Amino acid sequence: MSTAISPTAYNYKVVRQFAIMTVVWGILGMGLGVFIASQLVWPELNFDLPWTTFGRLRPLHTNLVIFAFGGCALFATSYYVVQRTCQTRLISDSLAAFTFWGWQAVIIGAIVTLPLGYTTTKEYAELEWPIAILLAIVWVTYAVVFFGTIVKRKTKHIYVGNWFYGAFILVTAMLHIVNHASLPVSLFKSYSAYAGATDAMIQWWYGHNAVGFFLTTGFLGMMYYFVPKQAERPIYSYRLSIVHFWALITLYIWAGPHHLHYTALPDWAQSLGMAMSIILLAPSWGGMINGMMTLSGAWHKLRTDPILRFLVVSLAFYGMSTFEGPMMAIKTVNSLSHYTDWTIGHVHAGALGWVAMISIGALYHMIPKLFGRVQMHSVGLINTHFWLATIGTVLYIASMWVNGITQGLMWRAINDDGTLTYSFVEALQASHPGYIVRALGGAFFATGMLFMAYNVWRTVRASDPAEAEAAAKIAVVGAH
Ligand code: HEM
Ligand code: HEM
Repeated sequence: MSTAISPTAYNYKVVRQFAIMTVVWGILGMGLGVFIASQLVWPELNFDLPWTTFGRLRPLHTNLVIFAFGGCALFATSYYVVQRTCQTRLISDSLAAFTFWGWQAVIIGAIVTLPLGYTTTKEYAELEWPIAILLAIVWVTYAVVFFGTIVKRKTKHIYVGNWFYGAFILVTAMLHIVNHASLPVSLFKSYSAYAGATDAMIQWWYGHNAVGFFLTTGFLGMMYYFVPKQAERPIYSYRLSIVHFWALITLYIWAGPHHLHYTALPDWAQSLGMAMSIILLAPSWGGMINGMMTLSGAWHKLRTDPILRFLVVSLAFYGMSTFEGPMMAIKTVNSLSHYTDWTIGHVHAGALGWVAMISIGALYHMIPKLFGRVQMHSVGLINTHFWLATIGTVLYIASMWVNGITQGLMWRAINDDGTLTYSFVEALQASHPGYIVRALGGAFFATGMLFMAYNVWRTVRASDPAEAEAAAKIAVVGAH
C-alpha cells in the first residue's frame, strides 16, 4: 500500500460513463426482453412488420443485454478494479475514452442493423463485418489500456480479480477475431470463411466460450473484488482462487461441442465436450464456494445490507446454473432438453441470477464512491430492487423448467403404432401458461431496474463534482 498522496487521481470519468450506461442499456435490453417474452404470449405484438418481428428483435435483445449491459458493467468494474488494486491511474485517458465511445458506437450499430435484418446469422456474433471490425479495434484498445495499467502498477502483486479480467479480455479477442473470419460481398453482407460442420464447431467454440469468458470469467473478476469489499472480509482462500483460475480457463475452452450433440459433428468431439463439461462443475463450484465462504463471520451483514444480498444470491444462482449446465451437457439429458425452454431457463438462471445480479451489486457498491457520496440515495429502494430481481428470476426459471420438460416429453411421446401422441401445436398450447409467468417474472426484473435508475439519478444529482474528484485522489492513498 502506498503511503504518500499521489498527485494523480484515478480516472473515474470513464468508469462513471460506463456505469451509467450499464443502467441505461440494462433497462432497454431487459425491457426488450419483456417485449419479446410478451410476443410469445400475444403474437399480435409482432405488428406484422418485418422490423418488429420476434426473429429480428430476439438477437437485438441478446446483443443489448450481453454486450451493452454486461459489456458496460465489465468495462466499468474492470477499469475501477485495475486502478484501485494496482494503485495507479489508467495508462491512457484518451484510449480509455476511445473504448467508451467506440463501444457505444458498436451498440448503436447493433440497434440500427439488427431490426433491419442485417445479420451474419451466427448467434451472439450477428453483427456484420464493418461493426465487427470496429468491435475488434475497440477490444484491442481495451486490452492495451487494461494490461498497460497492470504494467505500470505501483503494487508488486497482481490481484487475482485482474487475472480473471485479463483472461476474459484476451480470450474474447481471440474468439471474436477467429469466429468472424469472413468474406464480405457488400457493405452489409459477408459469408463465413468456414463451411459445414467446421463452421458449426467454430461458432460453438465461440458461443460457449462467450458464455465461459464473457458471461463468467469477467464476472468472476468482479466477484473477487466486490464480494470481499462489501463483506469487509478478505477472500476466503487466496490459494483456492489461483487453482480456480487455472482450472476454469483450462477446462472451459473444450466444452463447446455440448451445443452440438446429435449433429454432424464427429461423435468423439461430442463426447469430449460432454466429459469436459462435467469436469467443469469442479472449478465452477470451487469459485462459488470461495465467494460464499468469504462471508464467514459476516453472515449477519446480510440482514441489513441489500448490496451484499445481491452479491451472495448471484453466487447461489451461479452455483445453480453451473450444476444444471453439466447435467444438460450429458447426451441423454440433452436429448430431452435441447430445443426446449429448459435451455432458455438455464440461460436466464445464469444471465439474470448471476450476471445481472452481480453487476447490480457491484454498481450499488461503486456508484456512491464514483460520485463522492457515502452511500446510495436510498437503501430501502435497493432492498425493493433486490426482491423484485430475486422473485423475477425465480418466476422466469421455474416457468421455463416446467415448459421445457413438458415440451421435451410431449415431443418424444409415441403411440403403440409409432405415430406421435401430440402435435407440435398441442405442446405449444401447453406452454402458454409458462410464457405468461415468464413475461411476469421478466417484468418484475425490469421494474427493479427502473427503481435502480431512480436511485442512481438521485445519488448522482446529490453529488458534488469537486468532492468526487477529491474522493478519487484520496482513494489512491487508501487501501485497495
Ligand atoms: C427482464 C429480463 C429478461 C427477459 C424478460 C428476457 C426474455 C428473453 C426471451 C423471451 C428470450 C427468447 C427466448 C426464446 O427464444 O424462446 C430471451 C433470450 C435470451 N436472453 Fe433474455 N431476457 C431477460 C434478460 C436477459 C439478460 C440480463 C441476459 C444476459 C445477461 C439475457 C440473455 C439472453 C440470451 C443469451 C438469450 C438467448 C438464449 C438461447 O438462445 O438459448 N436475457 N430472453
Ligand atoms: C459449468 C458451467 C456450464 C455448463 C457445463 C453449461 C452447459 C450448457 C449446456 C449443455 C447448454 C445447452 C446446449 C444445447 O442444448 O443447445 C447450455 C446452454 C447455454 N448456457 Fe450454459 N452451462 C454452464 C454455465 C452457464 C452460465 C453460468 C451461463 C450464463 C451466464 C450459461 C449460459 C448459457 C447460454 C446463453 C446457453 C444457450 C446457448 C444457445 O443455444 O444459444 N451457461 N449450457
